[in-house]
Amino acid sequence: MEGINLRDKYISFFESKGHVKIPSAPVVPENDPSVLFNTAGMQPLVPYLKGQPHPKGTRLCDYQKCVRTNDLDAIGDTTHHTFFEMLGNWSLGDYFKKDAVNWSFEFLTKVLNIPVEKLAVTVFRGNDFVARDTETAGYWMECGIPECRIAYMGEEDNWWPSMELTGLCGPDTEIFYWRSTDEVPVNFDPSDDRWVEIWNNVFMQYMHEEDGSFTELPSKNVDTGMGMERTTAILEGVTDNYLSSIWKDVIAKIEEIAGKPYIGNEKAMRIIADHLRCAIFISADPSGIKPSNTDQGYILRRLIRRVIRYVRGLEIDVNYNWEEVLANLIMDKYEEYYSEIKQNRSVVLEVLRVEKTKFNKTLENGLKEFEKEVSRLNGTVINKDMAFRLYDTFGFPLELTVELASEKGITVDEEGFKEKFKEHQEKSRAGSEAKFKGGLAGNGEMETKYHTATHLLNAALKRVVGPDVHQKGSNITAERMRFDFSCDHKLSDEEKAEAEKLVNEWIAASIDVVVEEMPKDEAIKSGAECMFIEKYPDVVTVYTIGDVSKELCGGPHVKNTSELGKFVIKKEEASSAGVRRIKAILE
Ligand code: ALA
Repeated sequence: MEGINLRDKYISFFESKGHVKIPSAPVVPENDPSVLFNTAGMQPLVPYLKGQPHPKGTRLCDYQKCVRTNDLDAIGDTTHHTFFEMLGNWSLGDYFKKDAVNWSFEFLTKVLNIPVEKLAVTVFRGNDFVARDTETAGYWMECGIPECRIAYMGEEDNWWPSMELTGLCGPDTEIFYWRSTDEVPVNFDPSDDRWVEIWNNVFMQYMHEEDGSFTELPSKNVDTGMGMERTTAILEGVTDNYLSSIWKDVIAKIEEIAGKPYIGNEKAMRIIADHLRCAIFISADPSGIKPSNTDQGYILRRLIRRVIRYVRGLEIDVNYNWEEVLANLIMDKYEEYYSEIKQNRSVVLEVLRVEKTKFNKTLENGLKEFEKEVSRLNGTVINKDMAFRLYDTFGFPLELTVELASEKGITVDEEGFKEKFKEHQEKSRAGSEAKFKGGLAGNGEMETKYHTATHLLNAALKRVVGPDVHQKGSNITAERMRFDFSCDHKLSDEEKAEAEKLVNEWIAASIDVVVEEMPKDEAIKSGAECMFIEKYPDVVTVYTIGDVSKELCGGPHVKNTSELGKFVIKKEEASSAGVRRIKAILE
Protein backbone atom coordinates (compact mmCIF):
# COMPACT_ATOMS: atom_id res chain seq x y z
CA MET A 1 0.00 0.00 0.00
CA GLU A 2 2.32 2.81 1.10
CA GLY A 3 4.86 4.05 -1.37
CA ILE A 4 7.77 3.11 0.84
CA ASN A 5 6.32 -0.03 2.39
CA LEU A 6 7.73 0.53 5.83
CA ARG A 7 6.11 -2.56 7.34
CA ASP A 8 7.83 -5.00 5.02
CA LYS A 9 11.18 -3.27 5.37
CA TYR A 10 10.95 -3.33 9.14
CA ILE A 11 10.02 -6.98 9.35
CA SER A 12 12.64 -8.20 6.88
CA PHE A 13 15.35 -6.17 8.60
CA PHE A 14 14.59 -7.69 11.99
CA GLU A 15 14.18 -11.15 10.48
CA SER A 16 17.71 -10.74 9.15
CA LYS A 17 18.72 -10.17 12.80
CA GLY A 18 17.20 -13.46 13.92
CA HIS A 19 13.70 -12.23 14.87
CA VAL A 20 10.53 -14.18 14.17
CA LYS A 21 7.50 -12.25 12.91
CA ILE A 22 4.40 -12.75 15.03
CA PRO A 23 0.89 -11.72 13.91
CA SER A 24 -0.82 -8.60 15.20
CA ALA A 25 -3.12 -9.38 18.13
CA PRO A 26 -6.77 -8.19 17.98
CA VAL A 27 -7.42 -4.59 19.03
CA VAL A 28 -9.55 -5.84 21.92
CA PRO A 29 -7.19 -7.69 24.28
CA GLU A 30 -8.03 -11.35 24.55
CA ASN A 31 -7.07 -12.03 28.13
CA ASP A 32 -6.83 -8.66 29.78
CA PRO A 33 -10.08 -7.13 31.02
CA SER A 34 -8.15 -4.27 32.65
CA VAL A 35 -7.90 -2.33 29.38
CA LEU A 36 -10.44 -1.75 26.63
CA PHE A 37 -7.95 -1.83 23.76
CA ASN A 38 -4.38 -2.74 22.98
CA THR A 39 -2.50 0.51 23.27
CA ALA A 40 1.04 -0.68 22.57
CA GLY A 41 2.82 -3.44 20.71
CA MET A 42 4.03 -5.02 23.95
CA GLN A 43 0.58 -5.48 25.49
CA PRO A 44 -0.13 -8.93 24.03
CA LEU A 45 3.40 -9.96 25.09
CA VAL A 46 3.09 -9.18 28.80
CA PRO A 47 3.25 -12.83 30.02
CA TYR A 48 6.44 -13.40 27.98
CA LEU A 49 8.09 -10.19 29.13
CA LYS A 50 7.40 -11.46 32.65
CA GLY A 51 9.34 -14.62 31.94
CA GLN A 52 7.04 -17.21 30.38
CA PRO A 53 8.83 -18.77 27.37
CA HIS A 54 7.40 -17.64 24.01
CA PRO A 55 6.78 -20.47 21.52
CA LYS A 56 8.54 -18.49 18.77
CA GLY A 57 11.72 -17.87 20.74
CA THR A 58 13.42 -14.89 22.30
CA ARG A 59 13.55 -12.47 19.35
CA LEU A 60 10.20 -11.31 17.98
CA CYS A 61 8.94 -8.57 15.70
CA ASP A 62 5.57 -7.44 14.35
CA TYR A 63 3.27 -4.59 13.46
CA GLN A 64 0.56 -4.28 16.06
CA LYS A 65 -2.79 -2.54 15.75
CA CYS A 66 -3.21 -0.05 18.58
CA VAL A 67 -6.13 2.08 19.70
CA ARG A 68 -5.79 5.07 22.00
CA THR A 69 -8.97 7.01 22.57
CA ASN A 70 -8.29 8.69 25.89
CA ASP A 71 -7.97 12.12 24.32
CA LEU A 72 -10.24 12.58 21.33
CA ASP A 73 -9.64 16.33 21.44
CA ALA A 74 -6.03 15.80 20.39
CA ILE A 75 -7.21 14.35 17.09
CA GLY A 76 -7.30 16.85 14.29
CA ASP A 77 -3.66 17.88 14.44
CA THR A 78 -0.99 16.51 12.09
CA THR A 79 0.43 13.65 14.19
CA HIS A 80 -2.16 12.08 16.52
CA HIS A 81 -4.43 9.16 15.67
CA THR A 82 -6.97 7.07 17.55
CA PHE A 83 -5.87 4.00 15.63
CA PHE A 84 -2.28 3.49 14.62
CA GLU A 85 0.15 0.74 13.85
CA MET A 86 3.19 0.18 16.00
CA LEU A 87 6.20 -1.55 14.52
CA GLY A 88 8.10 -3.38 17.21
CA ASN A 89 10.97 -5.71 17.94
CA TRP A 90 11.49 -7.57 21.21
CA SER A 91 14.22 -9.30 23.07
CA LEU A 92 12.90 -11.68 25.72
CA GLY A 93 16.00 -11.92 27.88
CA ASP A 94 18.16 -12.16 24.77
CA TYR A 95 20.03 -9.07 23.43
CA PHE A 96 20.00 -5.85 25.42
CA LYS A 97 21.08 -2.22 25.07
CA LYS A 98 23.99 -2.52 22.66
CA ASP A 99 22.26 -4.54 19.95
CA ALA A 100 19.01 -2.65 20.35
CA VAL A 101 20.75 0.67 19.76
CA ASN A 102 22.93 -0.63 16.92
CA TRP A 103 20.02 -2.16 15.05
CA SER A 104 17.78 0.87 15.50
CA PHE A 105 20.56 3.01 14.09
CA GLU A 106 21.31 0.62 11.24
CA PHE A 107 17.65 0.37 10.24
CA LEU A 108 17.13 4.12 10.26
CA THR A 109 20.30 5.12 8.47
CA LYS A 110 21.05 2.11 6.19
CA VAL A 111 17.61 0.76 5.33
CA LEU A 112 15.54 3.93 5.49
CA ASN A 113 18.51 6.13 4.50
CA ILE A 114 17.75 8.80 7.06
CA PRO A 115 20.75 11.16 7.35
CA VAL A 116 22.32 10.95 10.80
CA GLU A 117 22.24 14.78 10.94
CA LYS A 118 18.46 14.62 11.22
CA LEU A 119 18.45 12.27 14.23
CA ALA A 120 18.64 12.94 17.95
CA VAL A 121 18.02 10.77 21.01
CA THR A 122 17.04 11.04 24.64
CA VAL A 123 18.34 8.70 27.36
CA PHE A 124 17.47 8.23 31.03
CA ARG A 125 19.03 10.69 33.45
CA GLY A 126 18.83 8.24 36.37
CA ASN A 127 16.94 8.20 39.68
CA ASP A 128 17.30 6.73 43.17
CA PHE A 129 17.67 3.16 42.03
CA VAL A 130 18.61 3.19 38.33
CA ALA A 131 21.87 4.79 37.27
CA ARG A 132 22.23 7.48 34.61
CA ASP A 133 22.20 5.63 31.30
CA THR A 134 25.64 6.60 30.06
CA GLU A 135 25.95 3.07 28.66
CA THR A 136 23.18 3.64 26.10
CA ALA A 137 24.46 7.13 25.31
CA GLY A 138 27.87 5.56 24.68
CA TYR A 139 26.44 3.11 22.14
CA TRP A 140 24.67 5.96 20.32
CA MET A 141 27.94 7.85 20.14
CA GLU A 142 29.75 4.80 18.79
CA CYS A 143 27.12 4.69 16.04
CA GLY A 144 27.85 8.29 15.14
CA ILE A 145 25.26 10.36 17.01
CA PRO A 146 27.18 13.37 18.36
CA GLU A 147 26.96 14.22 22.06
CA CYS A 148 25.14 17.50 21.29
CA ARG A 149 22.27 15.45 19.90
CA ILE A 150 21.87 13.33 23.04
CA ALA A 151 19.68 14.67 25.86
CA TYR A 152 19.47 13.12 29.33
CA MET A 153 15.88 13.30 30.58
CA GLY A 154 14.07 12.36 33.78
CA GLU A 155 11.33 9.94 34.73
CA GLU A 156 8.57 11.87 32.96
CA ASP A 157 10.23 11.47 29.60
CA ASN A 158 12.43 8.40 29.72
CA TRP A 159 10.63 5.87 31.86
CA TRP A 160 8.03 3.69 30.20
CA PRO A 161 5.13 3.50 30.62
CA SER A 162 5.12 5.79 33.68
CA MET A 163 6.38 5.86 37.23
CA GLU A 164 2.79 6.05 38.42
CA LEU A 165 1.73 2.74 36.91
CA THR A 166 2.33 -0.68 38.35
CA GLY A 167 3.49 -3.53 36.10
CA LEU A 168 6.31 -4.00 33.64
CA CYS A 169 8.49 -0.96 33.10
CA GLY A 170 11.95 0.38 32.56
CA PRO A 171 14.09 3.26 31.37
CA ASP A 172 13.99 4.00 27.68
CA THR A 173 15.79 5.79 24.89
CA GLU A 174 13.70 7.71 22.38
CA ILE A 175 14.67 8.56 18.84
CA PHE A 176 13.68 11.88 17.28
CA TYR A 177 13.68 13.12 13.71
CA TRP A 178 14.00 16.75 12.56
CA ARG A 179 10.71 17.20 10.70
CA SER A 180 11.17 20.69 9.34
CA THR A 181 12.67 22.47 6.39
CA ASP A 182 14.41 24.84 8.84
CA GLU A 183 18.10 24.23 9.38
CA VAL A 184 18.78 21.61 12.07
CA PRO A 185 20.01 23.33 15.25
CA VAL A 186 23.37 22.16 16.56
CA ASN A 187 22.10 21.31 20.03
CA PHE A 188 19.16 18.99 20.51
CA ASP A 189 16.30 20.54 22.44
CA PRO A 190 13.57 17.88 22.90
CA SER A 191 11.00 20.57 23.72
CA ASP A 192 11.31 22.01 20.20
CA ASP A 193 8.35 20.36 18.47
CA ARG A 194 10.08 20.31 15.12
CA TRP A 195 11.82 17.27 16.60
CA VAL A 196 9.28 14.44 16.33
CA GLU A 197 9.62 11.20 18.28
CA ILE A 198 9.50 8.24 15.92
CA TRP A 199 10.80 5.25 17.89
CA ASN A 200 11.07 4.21 21.49
CA ASN A 201 13.41 1.51 22.84
CA VAL A 202 12.43 0.43 26.35
CA PHE A 203 14.85 -1.54 28.48
CA MET A 204 12.16 -3.43 30.26
CA GLN A 205 13.79 -4.98 33.26
CA TYR A 206 11.58 -4.04 36.24
CA MET A 207 8.26 -4.91 37.74
CA HIS A 208 6.61 -2.03 39.58
CA GLU A 209 4.85 -3.86 42.40
CA GLU A 210 1.54 -2.89 44.04
CA ASP A 211 3.42 -1.89 47.22
CA GLY A 212 5.40 0.68 45.24
CA SER A 213 8.67 -1.26 45.11
CA PHE A 214 10.55 -2.15 41.93
CA THR A 215 11.82 -5.70 41.49
CA GLU A 216 14.12 -6.97 38.77
CA LEU A 217 12.46 -9.21 36.18
CA PRO A 218 13.93 -12.67 35.63
CA SER A 219 15.17 -11.47 32.26
CA LYS A 220 16.29 -8.16 30.83
CA ASN A 221 14.03 -7.41 27.90
CA VAL A 222 13.94 -4.94 25.07
CA ASP A 223 10.55 -3.57 23.96
CA THR A 224 10.48 -1.17 21.07
CA GLY A 225 7.78 0.74 19.27
CA MET A 226 7.99 2.77 16.08
CA GLY A 227 5.04 4.85 14.91
CA MET A 228 4.06 3.70 11.44
CA GLU A 229 2.19 6.87 10.52
CA ARG A 230 4.78 9.37 11.66
CA THR A 231 7.69 7.51 10.19
CA THR A 232 5.94 7.09 6.84
CA ALA A 233 5.25 10.82 6.78
CA ILE A 234 8.83 11.80 7.45
CA LEU A 235 10.18 9.38 4.89
CA GLU A 236 7.87 10.88 2.32
CA GLY A 237 8.96 14.38 3.30
CA VAL A 238 5.60 15.69 4.48
CA THR A 239 4.97 17.55 7.72
CA ASP A 240 1.34 16.46 7.98
CA ASN A 241 0.70 12.72 8.45
CA TYR A 242 -2.53 13.06 6.47
CA LEU A 243 -0.58 14.09 3.39
CA SER A 244 1.44 10.86 3.44
CA SER A 245 0.53 7.88 1.26
CA ILE A 246 -1.34 6.34 4.21
CA TRP A 247 -4.03 9.00 4.04
CA LYS A 248 -3.78 11.22 1.03
CA ASP A 249 -6.20 9.32 -1.20
CA VAL A 250 -8.70 9.18 1.67
CA ILE A 251 -8.41 12.93 2.16
CA ALA A 252 -8.74 13.44 -1.62
CA LYS A 253 -11.92 11.36 -1.59
CA ILE A 254 -13.36 13.40 1.28
CA GLU A 255 -12.52 16.58 -0.68
CA GLU A 256 -14.33 15.15 -3.68
CA ILE A 257 -17.41 14.07 -1.74
CA ALA A 258 -17.61 17.36 0.15
CA GLY A 259 -16.76 19.50 -2.86
CA LYS A 260 -14.44 21.41 -0.55
CA PRO A 261 -10.64 21.65 -0.32
CA TYR A 262 -8.56 20.14 2.51
CA ILE A 263 -6.96 23.52 3.10
CA GLY A 264 -9.29 25.37 5.41
CA ASN A 265 -11.12 22.17 6.41
CA GLU A 266 -8.18 20.23 7.81
CA LYS A 267 -9.57 19.49 11.24
CA ALA A 268 -12.88 18.06 10.02
CA MET A 269 -11.29 15.97 7.28
CA ARG A 270 -8.59 14.61 9.57
CA ILE A 271 -11.16 13.63 12.20
CA ILE A 272 -13.33 11.91 9.59
CA ALA A 273 -10.39 9.97 8.14
CA ASP A 274 -8.91 9.09 11.52
CA HIS A 275 -12.09 8.07 13.36
CA LEU A 276 -13.44 6.14 10.43
CA ARG A 277 -10.30 4.04 10.16
CA CYS A 278 -10.40 3.37 13.91
CA ALA A 279 -14.09 2.45 13.76
CA ILE A 280 -13.35 0.06 10.90
CA PHE A 281 -10.66 -1.77 12.85
CA ILE A 282 -12.80 -2.01 15.98
CA SER A 283 -15.82 -3.29 14.02
CA ALA A 284 -13.71 -5.80 12.09
CA ASP A 285 -12.09 -7.16 15.25
CA PRO A 286 -12.83 -10.82 16.01
CA SER A 287 -14.32 -9.73 19.33
CA GLY A 288 -17.42 -8.65 17.38
CA ILE A 289 -17.87 -5.26 19.09
CA LYS A 290 -20.96 -3.32 18.02
CA PRO A 291 -21.89 0.28 18.86
CA SER A 292 -23.48 0.34 22.31
CA ASN A 293 -23.57 2.39 25.47
CA THR A 294 -20.86 0.58 27.36
CA ASP A 295 -17.12 -0.10 27.14
CA GLN A 296 -15.61 -0.67 23.69
CA GLY A 297 -19.04 -0.40 22.09
CA TYR A 298 -19.43 3.07 23.51
CA ILE A 299 -16.06 4.17 22.15
CA LEU A 300 -17.05 2.78 18.75
CA ARG A 301 -20.35 4.65 18.91
CA ARG A 302 -18.63 7.91 19.87
CA LEU A 303 -16.14 7.57 17.03
CA ILE A 304 -18.81 6.95 14.41
CA ARG A 305 -21.04 9.69 15.75
CA ARG A 306 -18.17 12.15 15.72
CA VAL A 307 -17.46 11.26 12.09
CA ILE A 308 -21.10 11.90 11.24
CA ARG A 309 -21.01 15.24 12.98
CA TYR A 310 -18.04 16.39 10.95
CA VAL A 311 -19.48 14.97 7.74
CA ARG A 312 -22.56 17.07 8.36
CA GLY A 313 -20.35 20.05 9.17
CA LEU A 314 -18.86 19.74 5.68
CA GLU A 315 -22.41 19.79 4.32
CA ILE A 316 -22.10 16.37 2.74
CA ASP A 317 -25.52 15.08 1.69
CA VAL A 318 -26.81 12.97 4.61
CA ASN A 319 -28.39 10.49 2.22
CA TYR A 320 -25.21 9.86 0.25
CA ASN A 321 -23.46 6.61 1.17
CA TRP A 322 -20.19 8.37 1.98
CA GLU A 323 -19.45 5.87 4.78
CA GLU A 324 -19.40 2.99 2.34
CA VAL A 325 -17.25 4.79 -0.23
CA LEU A 326 -14.69 5.90 2.35
CA ALA A 327 -14.68 2.66 4.33
CA ASN A 328 -14.12 0.61 1.19
CA LEU A 329 -11.23 2.82 0.18
CA ILE A 330 -9.64 2.45 3.64
CA MET A 331 -10.26 -1.31 3.76
CA ASP A 332 -8.66 -1.75 0.31
CA LYS A 333 -5.47 -0.37 1.79
CA TYR A 334 -5.38 -2.74 4.76
CA GLU A 335 -6.87 -6.05 3.73
CA GLU A 336 -3.55 -7.36 2.44
CA TYR A 337 -2.05 -6.95 5.92
CA TYR A 338 -5.02 -7.75 8.13
CA SER A 339 -7.15 -10.75 7.19
CA GLU A 340 -10.02 -9.72 9.48
CA ILE A 341 -10.56 -6.66 7.28
CA LYS A 342 -10.97 -8.89 4.26
CA GLN A 343 -13.28 -11.28 6.13
CA ASN A 344 -15.45 -8.72 7.87
CA ARG A 345 -15.97 -6.09 5.21
CA SER A 346 -19.71 -6.50 5.13
CA VAL A 347 -19.90 -6.47 8.94
CA VAL A 348 -18.03 -3.17 9.01
CA LEU A 349 -20.24 -1.60 6.35
CA GLU A 350 -23.35 -2.74 8.18
CA VAL A 351 -22.17 -1.32 11.52
CA LEU A 352 -21.46 2.04 9.91
CA ARG A 353 -24.70 2.14 7.97
CA VAL A 354 -26.90 1.22 10.93
CA GLU A 355 -25.24 3.66 13.29
CA LYS A 356 -25.38 6.41 10.67
CA THR A 357 -29.09 5.95 10.10
CA LYS A 358 -29.81 5.85 13.78
CA PHE A 359 -27.70 8.85 14.68
CA ASN A 360 -28.92 10.98 11.78
CA LYS A 361 -32.42 10.59 13.10
CA THR A 362 -31.67 11.49 16.72
CA LEU A 363 -29.26 14.19 15.62
CA GLU A 364 -31.83 15.97 13.54
CA ASN A 365 -34.32 16.11 16.37
CA GLY A 366 -31.59 16.94 18.87
CA LEU A 367 -30.13 19.72 16.73
CA LYS A 368 -33.54 21.34 16.39
CA GLU A 369 -33.95 21.16 20.14
CA PHE A 370 -30.45 22.52 20.64
CA GLU A 371 -31.10 25.50 18.36
CA LYS A 372 -34.39 26.21 20.05
CA GLU A 373 -32.83 26.17 23.51
CA VAL A 374 -29.88 28.27 22.41
CA SER A 375 -32.15 30.92 20.93
CA ARG A 376 -33.94 31.13 24.28
CA LEU A 377 -30.75 31.10 26.27
CA ASN A 378 -30.30 33.79 28.81
CA GLY A 379 -26.52 34.16 28.96
CA THR A 380 -23.76 31.99 27.49
CA VAL A 381 -23.94 28.78 29.52
CA ILE A 382 -25.98 25.71 28.70
CA ASN A 383 -27.21 24.47 32.05
CA LYS A 384 -27.01 20.93 33.33
CA ASP A 385 -30.69 20.17 32.77
CA MET A 386 -30.55 20.97 29.11
CA ALA A 387 -27.26 19.13 28.59
CA PHE A 388 -28.76 16.13 30.34
CA ARG A 389 -31.94 16.25 28.29
CA LEU A 390 -29.91 16.26 25.08
CA TYR A 391 -28.07 13.22 26.38
CA ASP A 392 -31.04 11.34 27.73
CA THR A 393 -33.60 12.04 25.04
CA PHE A 394 -31.50 12.66 21.95
CA GLY A 395 -28.45 10.51 22.56
CA PHE A 396 -26.04 13.47 22.50
CA PRO A 397 -22.80 12.56 24.25
CA LEU A 398 -21.69 15.42 26.51
CA GLU A 399 -18.73 16.21 24.27
CA LEU A 400 -21.05 16.72 21.30
CA THR A 401 -23.06 19.32 23.20
CA VAL A 402 -19.80 20.95 24.26
CA GLU A 403 -18.53 21.03 20.67
CA LEU A 404 -21.76 22.41 19.26
CA ALA A 405 -21.89 25.01 21.99
CA SER A 406 -18.31 26.13 21.51
CA GLU A 407 -19.01 26.78 17.83
CA LYS A 408 -21.47 29.38 19.07
CA GLY A 409 -19.18 30.77 21.74
CA ILE A 410 -21.26 29.13 24.46
CA THR A 411 -20.07 26.89 27.30
CA VAL A 412 -21.73 23.96 29.02
CA ASP A 413 -22.04 23.29 32.74
CA GLU A 414 -20.05 20.06 32.42
CA GLU A 415 -19.60 19.49 36.14
CA GLY A 416 -23.33 19.98 36.65
CA PHE A 417 -24.02 17.48 33.88
CA LYS A 418 -21.77 14.88 35.50
CA GLU A 419 -23.47 15.33 38.85
CA LYS A 420 -26.86 15.00 37.26
CA PHE A 421 -25.76 11.94 35.37
CA LYS A 422 -24.66 10.32 38.63
CA GLU A 423 -27.85 11.30 40.41
CA HIS A 424 -29.86 9.82 37.61
CA GLN A 425 -27.98 6.53 37.80
CA GLU A 426 -28.47 6.35 41.56
CA LYS A 427 -32.14 7.18 41.24
CA SER A 428 -32.86 4.53 38.70
CA ARG A 429 -31.07 1.96 40.79
CA ALA A 430 -32.84 3.00 43.97
CA GLY A 431 -36.05 3.03 41.97
CA SER A 432 -35.69 -0.50 40.77
CA GLU A 433 -34.70 -1.75 44.21
CA ALA A 434 -37.67 0.00 45.77
CA LYS A 435 -39.93 -1.60 43.22
CA PHE A 436 -38.58 -5.04 44.00
CA LYS A 437 -38.99 -4.43 47.69
CA GLY A 438 -42.48 -3.07 47.05
CA GLY A 439 -43.31 -6.34 45.42
CA LEU A 440 -42.30 -8.20 48.55
CA ALA A 441 -44.02 -5.88 50.93
CA GLY A 442 -47.26 -6.46 49.08
CA ASN A 443 -46.61 -10.14 49.66
CA GLY A 444 -46.46 -10.27 45.92
CA GLU A 445 -46.10 -13.77 44.73
CA MET A 446 -46.60 -12.57 41.18
CA GLU A 447 -44.02 -9.81 41.52
CA THR A 448 -41.49 -12.38 42.71
CA LYS A 449 -42.23 -14.53 39.68
CA TYR A 450 -41.90 -11.57 37.34
CA HIS A 451 -38.64 -10.73 38.98
CA THR A 452 -37.20 -14.14 38.14
CA ALA A 453 -38.68 -13.84 34.66
CA THR A 454 -36.64 -10.66 34.06
CA HIS A 455 -33.46 -12.62 34.73
CA LEU A 456 -34.51 -15.30 32.28
CA LEU A 457 -35.46 -12.72 29.66
CA ASN A 458 -32.15 -10.91 30.14
CA ALA A 459 -30.30 -14.21 29.58
CA ALA A 460 -32.45 -15.09 26.56
CA LEU A 461 -31.84 -11.72 24.89
CA LYS A 462 -28.10 -12.10 25.38
CA ARG A 463 -28.23 -15.39 23.56
CA VAL A 464 -30.59 -14.29 20.81
CA VAL A 465 -29.49 -10.69 20.18
CA GLY A 466 -25.89 -10.76 21.41
CA PRO A 467 -23.68 -10.37 24.48
CA ASP A 468 -23.95 -6.56 24.22
CA VAL A 469 -27.45 -6.70 25.64
CA HIS A 470 -27.50 -5.34 29.18
CA GLN A 471 -30.37 -4.54 31.48
CA LYS A 472 -31.08 -0.82 31.58
CA GLY A 473 -34.06 -0.92 33.89
CA SER A 474 -37.16 -2.82 34.86
CA ASN A 475 -40.58 -2.19 36.31
CA ILE A 476 -42.74 -4.87 37.82
CA THR A 477 -46.36 -4.96 38.96
CA ALA A 478 -48.53 -7.94 39.86
CA GLU A 479 -49.96 -7.81 36.34
CA ARG A 480 -46.94 -7.52 34.10
CA MET A 481 -43.23 -6.88 33.74
CA ARG A 482 -41.41 -4.23 31.76
CA PHE A 483 -37.77 -4.78 30.87
CA ASP A 484 -35.44 -2.18 29.31
CA PHE A 485 -32.22 -3.29 27.65
CA SER A 486 -29.43 -1.92 25.48
CA CYS A 487 -29.93 -2.89 21.87
CA ASP A 488 -29.30 -1.06 18.63
CA HIS A 489 -32.28 -2.27 16.65
CA LYS A 490 -35.94 -3.12 16.76
CA LEU A 491 -36.25 -6.84 17.49
CA SER A 492 -37.47 -8.88 14.57
CA ASP A 493 -40.45 -11.20 15.01
CA GLU A 494 -38.02 -14.12 14.91
CA GLU A 495 -35.88 -12.65 17.66
CA LYS A 496 -38.90 -12.05 19.87
CA ALA A 497 -40.23 -15.56 19.23
CA GLU A 498 -36.82 -17.08 19.88
CA ALA A 499 -36.37 -15.19 23.19
CA GLU A 500 -39.87 -16.15 24.31
CA LYS A 501 -39.24 -19.77 23.39
CA LEU A 502 -35.96 -19.90 25.35
CA VAL A 503 -37.58 -18.49 28.49
CA ASN A 504 -40.36 -21.05 28.26
CA GLU A 505 -37.86 -23.86 27.71
CA TRP A 506 -36.02 -22.82 30.87
CA ILE A 507 -39.30 -22.69 32.77
CA ALA A 508 -40.15 -26.17 31.51
CA ALA A 509 -36.69 -27.42 32.53
CA SER A 510 -37.53 -26.75 36.23
CA ILE A 511 -34.20 -25.18 37.12
CA ASP A 512 -33.38 -24.33 40.75
CA VAL A 513 -32.68 -20.68 41.56
CA VAL A 514 -29.67 -20.59 43.87
CA VAL A 515 -28.81 -17.63 46.05
CA GLU A 516 -25.38 -17.02 47.58
CA GLU A 517 -23.36 -14.22 49.09
CA MET A 518 -19.86 -13.51 47.89
CA PRO A 519 -17.27 -10.72 47.68
CA LYS A 520 -18.06 -8.32 44.84
CA ASP A 521 -14.76 -8.99 43.04
CA GLU A 522 -15.37 -12.69 43.06
CA ALA A 523 -18.91 -12.20 41.73
CA ILE A 524 -17.62 -10.09 38.86
CA LYS A 525 -14.88 -12.58 38.11
CA SER A 526 -17.41 -15.37 37.97
CA GLY A 527 -19.15 -13.46 35.20
CA ALA A 528 -22.19 -12.29 37.16
CA GLU A 529 -24.24 -9.67 35.38
CA CYS A 530 -25.14 -6.40 37.08
CA MET A 531 -26.33 -2.92 36.25
CA PHE A 532 -24.21 -0.51 38.29
CA ILE A 533 -21.21 -2.32 39.60
CA GLU A 534 -19.70 0.63 41.47
CA LYS A 535 -22.89 1.03 43.49
CA TYR A 536 -22.83 -2.39 45.10
CA PRO A 537 -21.40 -3.13 48.57
CA ASP A 538 -18.26 -5.27 48.96
CA VAL A 539 -20.28 -8.37 49.65
CA VAL A 540 -23.11 -9.01 47.23
CA THR A 541 -25.95 -11.41 46.69
CA VAL A 542 -25.79 -13.43 43.51
CA TYR A 543 -28.69 -15.36 42.04
CA THR A 544 -27.77 -18.24 39.76
CA ILE A 545 -30.25 -20.07 37.56
CA GLY A 546 -28.41 -23.22 36.40
CA ASP A 547 -26.05 -22.28 33.58
CA VAL A 548 -28.69 -19.92 32.20
CA SER A 549 -28.15 -16.80 34.27
CA LYS A 550 -26.03 -15.32 37.03
CA GLU A 551 -26.85 -11.85 38.30
CA LEU A 552 -26.03 -9.60 41.21
CA CYS A 553 -29.41 -8.87 42.66
CA GLY A 554 -31.30 -8.10 45.86
CA GLY A 555 -34.04 -10.61 45.13
CA PRO A 556 -36.59 -11.93 45.89
CA HIS A 557 -36.90 -14.82 43.49
CA VAL A 558 -38.84 -18.04 43.14
CA LYS A 559 -37.08 -21.25 44.21
CA ASN A 560 -37.50 -23.03 40.89
CA THR A 561 -38.29 -21.77 37.39
CA SER A 562 -41.18 -24.23 37.11
CA GLU A 563 -43.20 -21.88 39.34
CA LEU A 564 -43.47 -19.23 36.64
CA GLY A 565 -46.11 -20.51 34.26
CA LYS A 566 -46.16 -19.47 30.60
CA PHE A 567 -44.12 -16.47 29.53
CA VAL A 568 -45.54 -14.25 26.76
CA ILE A 569 -43.98 -11.17 25.16
CA LYS A 570 -46.74 -8.63 24.57
CA LYS A 571 -44.85 -5.73 23.10
CA GLU A 572 -41.39 -4.54 22.04
CA GLU A 573 -40.73 -0.85 21.51
CA ALA A 574 -38.11 1.91 21.74
CA SER A 575 -37.48 3.29 25.22
CA SER A 576 -34.73 5.87 24.60
CA ALA A 577 -31.68 6.14 22.34
CA GLY A 578 -30.09 2.69 22.09
CA VAL A 579 -32.51 1.20 24.63
CA ARG A 580 -35.47 -1.07 23.81
CA ARG A 581 -38.35 -2.06 26.07
CA ILE A 582 -40.20 -5.36 26.32
CA LYS A 583 -43.55 -5.77 28.03
CA ALA A 584 -44.35 -9.33 28.98
CA ILE A 585 -46.74 -11.32 31.13
CA LEU A 586 -46.86 -14.70 32.83
CA GLU A 587 -50.03 -16.62 32.06
N1 ALA B 1 6.09 0.07 24.60
C1 ALA B 1 6.79 1.22 24.13
C2 ALA B 1 5.88 2.30 23.64
O1 ALA B 1 4.72 2.09 23.47
C3 ALA B 1 7.76 0.83 23.07
O2 ALA B 1 6.34 3.41 23.44
